[in-house]
Amino acid sequence: MNNIAVFASGTGSNFVAIQEAILQNELNANIALLVSDKPHSKAVQRAKDFGIQVLTFTPKDFNSKEEYETIIKQTLDSLNIQLVVLAGYMRLIGSTLLKGYENKIINIHPSLLPLYKGKDAVGQAMKDNAKTTGVTVHYVDSGMNTRNIIKQESIDISQLKTRFEIETNIHKIEHKIYKEVIKQLLEE
Ligand code: GRF
Repeated sequence: MNNIAVFASGTGSNFVAIQEAILQNELNANIALLVSDKPHSKAVQRAKDFGIQVLTFTPKDFNSKEEYETIIKQTLDSLNIQLVVLAGYMRLIGSTLLKGYENKIINIHPSLLPLYKGKDAVGQAMKDNAKTTGVTVHYVDSGMNTRNIIKQESIDISQLKTRFEIETNIHKIEHKIYKEVIKQLLEE
């Protein structure tokens, strides 16, 4: 079985899109674990509703990133996780996980990287009066949205007036391309 882990801190709409693709047999995978640094997030509740195992933690309860990542790594190892899928996980991944899961951690970001790295990529595009933005799926390294791009898709936002409209359209693309990339990587 292609066991994957999803890391999420927010609403978890990407997580749900992946789980629904699995349930509809579009994706031959199993979300064996949802990891979250926000125990009360919607993503955690949604995972529980699906009956998916959840690992939550509060970073300030630990002395270092290494400490909590060691616990995460042990859990990933025990579940034989093939791919770690970051879906709105708002923390940089540290060396403990990067070393243990080299080339097996991917992220989705709401811009055409290298444009609009980091937080609030949609806000950055709006401030820039960008006519086009998009979505990038990439492998993760220790920097912020920096390493190998796996897939990108652009979107014309010149006619979209509000942040809500832009975000809604970006989410639609995210929900489509993330499952495609996961499928491709698990089949390699
Ligand atoms: C997405 O826009 C993703 O690109 C970014 O965080 C957001 C997560 O949204 N990394 P959701 O929690 O999956 O709805």
